[in-house]
Amino acid sequence: MTRYLLAIDQGTTSSRAIVFCQDGHAIASAQKEFQQYFPQDGWVEHDPGEIWSSTLAVCKDAIVKAGINAVDIAGIGITNQRETTLVWDRETGELIYNAIVWQDRRTADSCEKLKLKGFEEAVVQKTGLLIDPYFSATKISWILDNVEGARAKAELGQLAFGTVDTFLLWKLTDGKSHKTDATNASRTSLFNIHTQQWDEELLEAFNVPLAILPEVMDSSDDFGSTEVGLFGTAIPVYGVAGDQQAALIGQACFQPGMAKSTYGTGCFLMLNTGEKAVRSENRLLTTVAYRLDGKTTYAVEGSIFIAGAAIQWLRDGLKLIDCASEAEALALESGSDNPVYLVPAFTGLGAPYWDPRARGAIHGLTRDTGIADIVTAGLQSVCYQTKDLVRAMQNDGASYKALRVDGGMVVNNWLVQFLADILNVTVDRPQITETTALGVAYLAGLKAGLYKDLDEISALWACEQRFEPNMQPEKREKLYTGWLDAVERVR
Ligand code: G3P
Repeated sequence: MTRYLLAIDQGTTSSRAIVFCQDGHAIASAQKEFQQYFPQDGWVEHDPGEIWSSTLAVCKDAIVKAGINAVDIAGIGITNQRETTLVWDRETGELIYNAIVWQDRRTADSCEKLKLKGFEEAVVQKTGLLIDPYFSATKISWILDNVEGARAKAELGQLAFGTVDTFLLWKLTDGKSHKTDATNASRTSLFNIHTQQWDEELLEAFNVPLAILPEVMDSSDDFGSTEVGLFGTAIPVYGVAGDQQAALIGQACFQPGMAKSTYGTGCFLMLNTGEKAVRSENRLLTTVAYRLDGKTTYAVEGSIFIAGAAIQWLRDGLKLIDCASEAEALALESGSDNPVYLVPAFTGLGAPYWDPRARGAIHGLTRDTGIADIVTAGLQSVCYQTKDLVRAMQNDGASYKALRVDGGMVVNNWLVQFLADILNVTVDRPQITETTALGVAYLAGLKAGLYKDLDEISALWACEQRFEPNMQPEKREKLYTGWLDAVERVR
C-alpha cells in the first residue's frame, strides 16, 4: 500500500497543507491566506482562531484533493513561522491574547533595558541569538505583564506557552501534547542550544516561568496523534521543525558548508555547520538546524524581515502591480542598472544590522523614475539584503560553493539571476521548490520508517536550473555601494 505524508506549513501570511508521496513529489496542496493585524506602529498580531481554522481547513482540503484516505497517511509534519508567541489556558484551551508575530517590535524597550544591564553576552553564548524583539522571550513576558492575572496563573502552571507548532499540536491532539522540537525551542531565547535544555538563568532574566514551557523533542519524533474526530482516524505527528530549518532539510543541506536561502515573507539564509555551534562575530545567529536521535546539527543563520513582503506592499499598499508575477517583466524593462533603492525596513532591520527602530525608504528618485524602477528596486532589495548576510558570513570565515534557493519568489528568473550576479556565487534552484513543507514531510517520513536515513533523502534532491554569476565586478561594486549608502540613511 502506498503511504503518504501530510505536511502542514503554517506561515506568516498563509496556512498550507501538502500531501507528498514517498519520492518527495507533491500530489495535492491547499492554501489559505489569513488576516494580519497591525494594532500600532511596529505591532503585528494574528488571530489564533484563524491560524487554527485555516490550518484545519487546508489539511482537509489537501486530503480530499489528493483523493486518499486519512488512514493512508503515514505521518504528519508541522513546520511553522518561528518565534511567533501564543499563550493559552491549559484548562479551557482559551488563548489569553492574540499571537504576537515574530515581526512585532513592541518589546524594543525591554530589549534595550536587558542590553544595558549587560545581559547580551550570556544570551549570545547560551542561545546563539541576540537580544531583539524578534525572539519569543520578551513577547511571552509582555503577554504575562499585560493580560490581567496572567502572571499569577503562569506561575501556578495554569497557562501554556507555545510557538505555532506547539499550538497546532495542542489543537490537533485536543490538548494532549504540549511539545515542541529543538529547532523551534532554539528561537525563544530561553533554550540553551549547547545543553539542549530550558535555561534557568535565561528564564529568570526574561521573567518567564518554567511551568508554561513545552517539552522539547527531536525534530523527528513521536509528538502524539490527532484527535480521531478531526480526520476520521488518528494520524501520528512525526515531524516538527521551524520553517527555515525545514527548508534546509528539504534542500538536503546535510553536509557542513551547504547553504540555502528561502524567499518567503522574509528571507532566511542558513549554512549548515555540522556538530559545531559556530559563534558569529558579525551579528548572525547560531541556531539548531535539526536534532535527530538526540544528536544536534547546528547552523548559522542570517534573517531578513522583509523580502516577499516588499513585493506584497508594492502590490497591496502602493498598488503599483496587480500580482507579484508582473514584477519580472517590469525588472526586464528597468534593468539591473536601476539607480533607485528601496530599503524595506518596515519593521526595522534584521541581520546584520539589528536595528528595530529603522524604517523604510525609497532613495534615488529622479524626475524620470517610473513604476518599473520602483518595483525593480523592491526585487533588488531582496538580493542586496542577501549580500549583506553573505558578507557577514564571509567575514566570519564561512564559505560555500553554491547557494540553493527556494520560496515563492524564486520562480522569478530575473531575481535569481540578479542574486547570482550581486553575490558573485552560483545559485541552484531545485526541481521541488516547496522545500519547507517537503523538509518536514521528510522528518515525519524518517520517524514513520519511510526513509532509512538522510543519505536516502539527499538522493531525492535534483537541480532544476543553475544560475551562474555574470556581472562585471565594477558594476557589482557600484550597485552594492549604492545600497549600503541607502541603508545608512534609514538608520
Ligand atoms: O523567523 C520567521 C520565519 O520563520 C518566518 O518565515 O516563511 O513565514 O516568512 P515565513
